[in-house]
Amino acid sequence: MTSKAILTTTNLQRDYQQGDSTDVLRVIKGIDLEIMQGEKLAIVGVSGSGKSTLLNLMGGLDDPTQGSVTLNGKQWSDLDPTQRAAWRNQHIGFVYQFHHLLDEFSALENVCLPSLIGGDTKLGEAYAKELLERVGLAERLHHRPSELSGGERQRVAIARALVRKPSLVLMDEPTGNLDPKTAESVLKLLIALNKELNISFVVVTHDPQIAKRLDRTISLVDGVLGQDVD
Ligand SMILES: Nc1ncnc2c1ncn2[C@@H]1O[C@H](COP(=O)(O)OP(=O)(O)O)[C@@H](O)[C@H]1O
Ligand SMILES: [Mg+2]
Repeated sequence: MTSKAILTTTNLQRDYQQGDSTDVLRVIKGIDLEIMQGEKLAIVGVSGSGKSTLLNLMGGLDDPTQGSVTLNGKQWSDLDPTQRAAWRNQHIGFVYQFHHLLDEFSALENVCLPSLIGGDTKLGEAYAKELLERVGLAERLHHRPSELSGGERQRVAIARALVRKPSLVLMDEPTGNLDPKTAESVLKLLIALNKELNISFVVVTHDPQIAKRLDRTISLVDGVLGQDVD
């Protein structure tokens, strides 16, 4: 594996205001982390430990109170909102527990959307079809999300996350809403795609069985990184 870091967090900190109170809740307490090209990283931790907060900071969807996140040589805080959206569209894919597909669009249209937004319609559509075939949905291109099973919807969401050829895919409990058998097939797909495309994956998961199958596991405990677990 090459050893180029594609994402670096430096002394990352995130405080939340607690309602009307002046007290702050420090959720992320100074995290230094490097994600290497092609790496599959699991993030585990109890509910409320800050996993989603950390993922959102990595993806530039949220701003740290202190510290910084650098993705492929650029710091999120140096980019204005338009540049940020473009950088994100080009370099990162997101997959959530619930698929967040648009119900009024077909599987193919949903996968094409990031390319439409990125101004790359023609190539985007060809690659979207290829990816949907790759995730086993060649016969489902024109189905809407409501006409697909949970596992199929998550496969569409994965294809959508990959369509811009990102260097990093951030997944927040991607199998949390799936039965064990479907979860296993989604995990197998993730591992195969990682091998084929050398894309890095960061996977937030509750499931130690999933974490075990990835390259490295970090646990988030009380806002800091615990020992790497093997
Ligand atoms: N927008 C917010 N305002 C205030 N507190 C928040 C906000 N978002 C999350 N929190 C708090 O931060 C902590 C971590 O949340 P989160 O990152 O969602 O945890 P996890 O994904 O590990 O379950 C929780 O205690 C949660 O209540
Ligand atoms: Mg969460």
